[in-house]
Amino acid sequence: MAEEKLYPKASWEYENAVAKCKRKLRGLVAEKHCAPIVLRLAWHSAGTFDVETKTGGPFGTIRHGEELAHEANSGLDIAVRLLEPIKAQFPILTYADFYQLAGVVAVEITGGPEIPFHPGRPDKSEPPPEGRLPQATQGPAHLRDVFYRMGLCDKDIVALSGGHTLGRCHKERSGFEGPWTSNPLIFDNSYFRELLSGGKQGLIQLPTDKALFEDPTFRSLVHKYAADEDVFFEDYANAHLKLSELGWP
Ligand code: HEM
Repeated sequence: MAEEKLYPKASWEYENAVAKCKRKLRGLVAEKHCAPIVLRLAWHSAGTFDVETKTGGPFGTIRHGEELAHEANSGLDIAVRLLEPIKAQFPILTYADFYQLAGVVAVEITGGPEIPFHPGRPDKSEPPPEGRLPQATQGPAHLRDVFYRMGLCDKDIVALSGGHTLGRCHKERSGFEGPWTSNPLIFDNSYFRELLSGGKQGLIQLPTDKALFEDPTFRSLVHKYAADEDVFFEDYANAHLKLSELGWP
């Protein structure tokens, strides 16, 4: 059984701002087709958490130049800039909450599962050290090192990797090029189906994507998610919720 979390009680004004901001985010993401990069921003913001030292994590630091300049965050300045006009309308919200809310909206509006959102994350000032996010050229052991450091498990690794159902790689950002699926603006289980089909012309599989196929524990989850989208959505929503609340409350 997961430990019950005690969430802080947000004020009426804060809850109201969250609800309004969510509507504005839906509009922006639909208009700009920016769900993929917004999801990547939310994930890179949270995925720096270290469960031992309680440093890093989804606390709004990614908007600052120092963290945006980390190699893994290449291109995410675009997402910060795109979101800023919405954030400016809701000064009461922390950036920490705002980016995680945007991540939840990105998944929902592209047809993915609804992910619960709890407000109250504080903004912190100390950025994480560089080098905490996974490197795409690595294998299963590296994925475990990085995600276990966050306090996440094998199931979370595979489910969250399904986030690559959205978006694409850009040569000028990561050095890789191309989408993982033929419908990169739709959140579904096609990432896992493509992984099993072994690669198609025009679609990409990073070494870390292929790693899910190499490791027997990971591979059985890939089969499960490829066969049953409902199971993927349930596990994804759980894992995304955990990711969005690393180190909090
Ligand atoms: C498992 C380790 C992971 C690695 C090594 C990895 C690596 C990458 C790389 C290299 C890119 C291409 C960036 C670019 O060139 O624009 C990318 C994009 C992306 N990643 Fe990941 N990723 C990982 C996990 C995740 C997770 C957990 C999520 C979300 C839950 C995620 C969501 C995305 C999205 C949505 C994009 C597309 C961004 C866009 O289209 O602009 N990734 N990832």
